[in-house]
Amino acid sequence: MSHPHNPKRPRRVTARTPAKVNVQLAVGGLRDDQFHDLANVFMAVDLHDTVTVEPAEELLVTVSGRDAHEVPADASNLAAQAAWLLGERYHRDPYVHIHIEKNIPVAGGMAGGSADGAAALLAIDALWETKASRSALLELAARMGSDVPFALYGGIALGRGRGELLTPIKPDDGGEREYHWVFALAEGGLSTPAVFHECDRLRMASGGGHLSADVPMPDPAPELLAAIRGGDTVGLGRMLAFGLNDLQEAALSLRPELRATLDAGTAAGALAGLVSGSGPTCAFLAAGEEEAVQVAKALRESGMCRDAIATRGPVPGASVEVVE
Ligand code: C5P
Repeated sequence: MSHPHNPKRPRRVTARTPAKVNVQLAVGGLRDDQFHDLANVFMAVDLHDTVTVEPAEELLVTVSGRDAHEVPADASNLAAQAAWLLGERYHRDPYVHIHIEKNIPVAGGMAGGSADGAAALLAIDALWETKASRSALLELAARMGSDVPFALYGGIALGRGRGELLTPIKPDDGGEREYHWVFALAEGGLSTPAVFHECDRLRMASGGGHLSADVPMPDPAPELLAAIRGGDTVGLGRMLAFGLNDLQEAALSLRPELRATLDAGTAAGALAGLVSGSGPTCAFLAAGEEEAVQVAKALRESGMCRDAIATRGPVPGASVEVVE
């Protein structure tokens, strides 16, 4: 399956891909396939990784940037899986050099690995000029992981099933809204399966040992959807303060010190603080850009986190930026 280099073919492709925060993560029962039914409301935020791909003699993953040494540079990396899956589909050897410039926290509950997988799909498809349809890319993305399809969507979307069945959510007036967020980065990561497992364990313990299959099918909160459709930042903050992340208690059970981080962010003036996805990153919604800068500064000075980043969302999904 050798493909001699054609000078007109791209030699290098770069894609950019956003992190996400879950403004709701409602967790249902454990399914037979060992996943949980979810009602996930995702927002893509302006914190990006960059993935560059080039033809190579073998499949190779290299990583630079924030926490690069914590990223697996082997076949378990979702970017490498993108090369395998596209190779299988288009009958090509998956021989590409994938370089990931990390900026999204690793194992932080912001879907950084999924984002890299989505960017690699787009970049390799462009490098090979395989021109996969949007639906083919989404299908491969769903095979790679529950959060990978959303990284291709971006914006704000409701994810059903295990998180991969997506419907965009937009403001009713068709306009754009900007929400200001602060992300408090924790030391070390949390394993997503471990946090789901802890969620089941806590439920079993509080329900007298009942199986999590008794948990009702999760639904998005109507008031949350109304706040997003109305572009209502204060309403969104009010809903977040209710605690719409069913993994939060589990993440706090595994990392109790995150409670102090959440308290520090709300004491600094955030409208609401929550654990991002399965954690341990904490997310804070601020009333505006200035407030976000202040909350980030206070969090950094509190010593409750290793860094705090003020940013905004929603932003578009993964996209090819440069074809050389
Ligand atoms: O889909 P993904 O590979 O990202 O999921 C990682 C792990 O998170 C799964 O193996 C499972 O333990 C847990 N998970 C889950 N239910 C979901 C999504 C993920 O239990 N809907």
